[in-house]
Amino acid sequence: MYLQKQLDRHYIFDNLDTVELAKEFGTPLYVISENLIKYKCSQIQNDFLNKYPNTKAAYASKAFLTLAMCKIIEREGLGLDVVSGGELFTAISAHFPMEKVMFHGNNKSFEELELAINNNVGRIIVDNLYELEILQNIAKEQNKKVKILFRINPGVPGKTHKYISTGQIDSKFGICIEEESLNFALKKTIDSPNLELMGFHFHIGSQLFDNKSYLAALNIVTGLMKNLKDKMGFITKELNIGGGFGISYSTREKTKPISFFIDPIMKSIEDNCSKLKLERPTIIIEPGRWIIGEAGITLYTIGSIKEIPNVRTYISVDGGLPDNPRPALYGAKYEAIVANRPYANRELTATIAGKCCESGDILIWDINIPYVKPGDVLAVLNTGAYNYSMASNYNRLPKPAVVLISNGKPHVIVEREKYEDLISKDKIPNHLL
Ligand code: LLP
Repeated sequence: MYLQKQLDRHYIFDNLDTVELAKEFGTPLYVISENLIKYKCSQIQNDFLNKYPNTKAAYASKAFLTLAMCKIIEREGLGLDVVSGGELFTAISAHFPMEKVMFHGNNKSFEELELAINNNVGRIIVDNLYELEILQNIAKEQNKKVKILFRINPGVPGKTHKYISTGQIDSKFGICIEEESLNFALKKTIDSPNLELMGFHFHIGSQLFDNKSYLAALNIVTGLMKNLKDKMGFITKELNIGGGFGISYSTREKTKPISFFIDPIMKSIEDNCSKLKLERPTIIIEPGRWIIGEAGITLYTIGSIKEIPNVRTYISVDGGLPDNPRPALYGAKYEAIVANRPYANRELTATIAGKCCESGDILIWDINIPYVKPGDVLAVLNTGAYNYSMASNYNRLPKPAVVLISNGKPHVIVEREKYEDLISKDKIPNHLL
């Protein structure tokens, strides 16, 4: 009887029945839990901002950004890291407090920088000398004093997938610290009445688990701070150590609390600063994935099932690579639950395929799963980060809707695209009409 009851139950995500969500809003569907976002933000509040004075945290919006997300982040008291005119425009449109916005990017355009300065964004993280030149001209033109950080490249690789490691010397990001150019940039900035250099930024990579690379980078950067103080009298007021805190994509392992990353980092900063007789600057972190990754799931409807005897069973769903390119891009691994039979025995080993015209469109290889039939609902877990934000219209698939669960109620925060949206920017030249 008890077992029967379990078998009848559906997979519940943040108090809501996911099968009902799929029925009401259609699939594929991104579902995001406001509670889970808030829970992560409260950990940052308690274990970083309240625990260590003179600290700030910004959410890396590239992981997932919509107008509603801006509002949640604002309410949670965090700043926002943006990396393009589009992300900045989203923040402006949501009336996000601009002084809490940090603008990153290795090739910001004149227009993007102008938009940022027009709107008085809090910090511009200058990545290279070309950008510094443009920035100086715009700031002068507008007669403003713009607060900046230099993104430096500490020459420390992040232990992660090659595509998301950024701290190594051979990287498109940041100013090399050995370079003459850093001294040149510093001098130029310090002499400029329109720029105010507040300090430095580095970001080693994403989905990192061990602190060794942060600590190695901190040794290098605090050494640099000491050098600049002794040689130029420059005092570093702010140090932004980027994001990158990893999460678990597996239900067998728990994600580490923020203190796992933060405590050794803060200890190393305090130790280095006291050893080098430096005043500890304001420390800024900018996690993306750690805040939003586990707060999202994606719901799909199962369609065709192809069994190749002695080879493999393919279970196809109504989305795939366009809503989640991470397995194809980084070999990312996800787990899934059959939402209408979450407790059924996982008797089958199968591969979850997307619906795109390419063999690489596989969401999960060789998952243990119950026997399924067309129409069953599949929930892929931990899809909150870099899924919606990296979604495409490959094969002209309309992008899924995003539903936010807040206090037990679902709210559509991004509407599902329609076929009409797909052609809304298309034009036919006269000679083809
Ligand atoms: N700050 C900077 C300057 C960054 O470049 C990034 C991520 C972050 C913060 C936030 O990193 P997080 O805390 O989310 O790890 N598309 C890839 C991830 C690319 C991350 C790029 N930069 C993925 O799906 O894994």
